[in-house]
Amino acid sequence: MRYAQLLAFALAAIQWVKADDDTPAHGEEESEEMGPVAFMWPEDREWSASDDNTAPCGSSEEPGERTQFPLTRGALALVIQDDSWNVDVSIAYQNDPSENSDFETLITTRIAELDPGHACYSVPDPPRDVIDGTNATIQLRYTSDFDTDTNETFYACADITYVSSARFDTEIPCFNVTSDNFTASDDDEDEEDAAGSLRSNTGTVGLVAGFVALGSWLLL
Ligand SMILES: *[C@@H]1O[C@H](CO)[C@@H](O)[C@H](O)[C@H]1NC(C)=O
Ligand SMILES: *[C@@H]1O[C@H](CO)[C@@H](O)[C@H](O)[C@H]1NC(C)=O
Ligand SMILES: *[C@@H]1O[C@H](CO)[C@@H](O)[C@H](O)[C@H]1NC(C)=O
Ligand SMILES: *[C@@H]1O[C@H](CO)[C@@H](O)[C@H](O)[C@H]1NC(C)=O
Repeated sequence: MRYAQLLAFALAAIQWVKADDDTPAHGEEESEEMGPVAFMWPEDREWSASDDNTAPCGSSEEPGERTQFPLTRGALALVIQDDSWNVDVSIAYQNDPSENSDFETLITTRIAELDPGHACYSVPDPPRDVIDGTNATIQLRYTSDFDTDTNETFYACADITYVSSARFDTEIPCFNVTSDNFTASDDDEDEEDAAGSLRSNTGTVGLVAGFVALGSWLLL
């Protein structure tokens, strides 16, 4: 599991809380080890900046380690470090899908927007012919203006093997926390004018709420 990403997000949040007036606005301190959106669970393929706009998986790697994924009541836990839009979640019931046309829609309602933080979405159960041991790849395809002034299409994939719910014993790290939970206000004027103590007090409250959310599954 991507504890490193969680940690990166938590550290970024602490940076926001501690931010001095000359510190860049949130969203500008980005991890250089992931794209704007990554899978936290199931585990995603190795990320690289040079490949993340390449269909279908944003990676030059082949399917690697597969995460065991339940045949019923599956979910995706995402970590988001920059605003992203029009997120399509698709799936290929294949060992090594190589193009977008290998994928079919998994979450029928496109996710209009993802804000920095953590988000978790339940996914529909697969068709009946998908059984214990079936391999699949879950794809995220979305728009972001990460690091640039133009919107580009980004890709990320997670390789899975379905297992019967009886054999599935992982606690999916499923929770929503956004960076708004960590900062006093998104309003730039407020941020500039706010007394540091006000901002760090409310920021700390948000931070504690975030860590309670993280802790509730880390301890499970
Ligand atoms: C699933 O993928 C793994 C490698 O990722 C492979 O060893 C295994 O044979 C595949 N299973 C099936 C049913 O094709
Ligand atoms: C990218 O697209 C989103 C959603 O349509 C929009 O809100 C955002 O302003 C766009 N960014 C740029 C740099 O055009
Ligand atoms: C997270 O938020 C999304 C969008 O509002 C929602 O669909 C999803 O069910 C939420 N997940 C949890 C675990 O609350
Ligand atoms: C984060 O903020 C949202 C909306 O502002 C709120 O619904 C949610 O409960 C907060 N989450 C935590 C963990 O504080």
